[in-house]
Amino acid sequence: MEYKLADRMSYLKASEIREILKVTERPEVISFAGGLPAPELFPIEAIQEASNRVFEEEGYKALQYTTTEGYRPLREWISNRMNKRWQTAFEPDNIVLTHGSQQALDLSGKVFLDQGDIVLCESPTYLAAISAFKAYGCEFIEVPTDNEGMITSQVESILETQGNRVKLIYVIPDFQNPTGRTWSLRRREQLVKLATKYEIVIIEDNPYGELRFEGEMLPSLQSFDDVGCVVSLGSFSKVFCPGYRIGWVMAHEKLIEKYVLVKQGADLQCNTMAQMVISKYLELYNIDEHIDKIRDVYRQRRDAAIEVMEKEFPKEVKFTRPEGGLFAWVELPTHINARVVLEKCLEKNVAFVPGGSFFPNGGNENTLRLNFSNMPVDRIKEGLKCLARVLNQLNIT
Ligand SMILES: Cc1ncc(COP(=O)(O)O)c(C=O)c1O
Repeated sequence: MEYKLADRMSYLKASEIREILKVTERPEVISFAGGLPAPELFPIEAIQEASNRVFEEEGYKALQYTTTEGYRPLREWISNRMNKRWQTAFEPDNIVLTHGSQQALDLSGKVFLDQGDIVLCESPTYLAAISAFKAYGCEFIEVPTDNEGMITSQVESILETQGNRVKLIYVIPDFQNPTGRTWSLRRREQLVKLATKYEIVIIEDNPYGELRFEGEMLPSLQSFDDVGCVVSLGSFSKVFCPGYRIGWVMAHEKLIEKYVLVKQGADLQCNTMAQMVISKYLELYNIDEHIDKIRDVYRQRRDAAIEVMEKEFPKEVKFTRPEGGLFAWVELPTHINARVVLEKCLEKNVAFVPGGSFFPNGGNENTLRLNFSNMPVDRIKEGLKCLARVLNQLNIT
């Protein structure tokens, strides 16, 4: 049958990462492709204890519907934590829990975007945010981005000319996916000033901020916001585990009301059991000790990756040295296509994601993203040495 689908289906295509991940399921493949946390670090016994306690103490409640906003003790914990960590001043009522920050991205599209609206984003940006927003028929303007973040003078000139069509500015200021870069304090402040002046909402997506290996934590964009223009998204996926799918939106109450409305249409509420188990875990255990363990392991993995890249990549190849998070970003000379490099690497059972997909308007095929969180150091070294050999055999100069 010829299905009559919604127009939006023509804007969407299968994610390249999902396709590559199918190949990487083979155990012999050394994969830098996904963005998966290290599963051996999931606190399984503690989670088991927390879920037993939830079943024993409040089993009926945990299996029942709950409010769309989400389990209040968990929202209380999140607001306290965010205020302490990111220098914000929010209440639990400023938070709605979502199924991962991915759902928060989709709901943001539903709340803000109409067909033809413009979203400003970093160039490159998070692939699944592109898909989430695209479904609402928006266009993207990629703002050039350097080691300090979005170049704000460029944001200003875009807003001067296209201001009335720009609905959202989407950014990942801490250990960005895909580049691993972190914004400077100066750029954070400047962007919020511009958003305030032009009355445009910023979506600050921060799933990696707690995973800093070195240097000082910087305040969130939201901490500079006096008018309610910053919506921040957070997640338990990278500091706890992604399987429960719990994230959140933190914003001005007027916006939270809108997020609650669209979430009711999407799924009524987040999984009650997951919310209560996470909340019980946070009551029984010290998550900071757990996060310290994750940071230590990822720091070692990052160091191993950087060491091989420094020693063995051709000198024409540039790469980022992330101070935290899960990813490093590689730029090959412009005449080298990363998809061709990927084909050669796959023959040797090594995978990564070509960077082109992280640019909503295409191009930049000479880039690639490397994930370093999901494999032990020896596999990281072996895989990157193999990538280095492939690069050294190309006509790179
Ligand atoms: C920048 C960014 N935002 C959002 C997400 C979605 O995370 P989750 O839905 O697991 O919270 C990811 C996942 O990798 C991400 O990298």
